[in-house]
Amino acid sequence: MTPNFRPVALEHASRLVNHGPTVLVTSAAGDRRNVMAAAWSMPVEFTPPRIAVVIDKHTFTRELVIASGAFGICIPGTVLAGLTYAVGSESGRSVDKFAVHGIVARPGPVLGVPLIEAGCAAWLECRLIREAHTEDAYDTCFAEVVAAAADERIFANGRWTFGDDNVELQTIHHLGAGNFVRPGGVLRTKPMPASPARDTAGES
Ligand SMILES: Cc1cc2nc3c(=O)[nH]c(=O)nc-3n(C[C@H](O)[C@H](O)[C@H](O)COP(=O)(O)O)c2cc1C
Repeated sequence: MTPNFRPVALEHASRLVNHGPTVLVTSAAGDRRNVMAAAWSMPVEFTPPRIAVVIDKHTFTRELVIASGAFGICIPGTVLAGLTYAVGSESGRSVDKFAVHGIVARPGPVLGVPLIEAGCAAWLECRLIREAHTEDAYDTCFAEVVAAAADERIFANGRWTFGDDNVELQTIHHLGAGNFVRPGGVLRTKPMPASPARDTAGES
């Protein structure tokens, strides 16, 4: 792992995607590897942690994920917005996007999927949950998270911290057509105390 990356406890892994960041889905099978952008992913189960990600049936990524039964979810920071848009706009069928864009990947600790750390805030290594009856019908893939890690400068002790000192690692959220927003204003709140509405009609 790169110096600032630390393992994330699996019970906290869902928080890495809870706020809906655009992610990089990495995959490999045989001697082929690939990476694509995905704006649609979410946690779906607590224990074991499971997530859903939409991987279009026609993508090369989908082919590799079905072949290998595994994929990585890497969470790019603002510094990788251009790369994210690029790998979401071209297919790995004809090019090795890692080579073309000079992306360095390391094998995941459990399944060996290629994981990107430079410029990323975190990653999750995922085992595909095979759903033979839905594989041809739906783009959504379900998977169990088997390992996770995050850059401690932005995610530590199960919590994200967004500040002026880590803008480059802040997550990106796709608005469409290559426009992204990053989490600018964090609202810190507490549950509002109960305050039953009072019917004041007729009071004088
Ligand atoms: C910002 C962004 C978000 C995207 N989100 C998704 C997504 O959630 N699901 C999906 O199937 N494709 C999504 N795409 C499109 C794929 O990344 C695109 O089809 C990619 O070229 C597939 O690459 P591949 O054939 O090498 O797997 C997105 C593209 C961009 C640029």
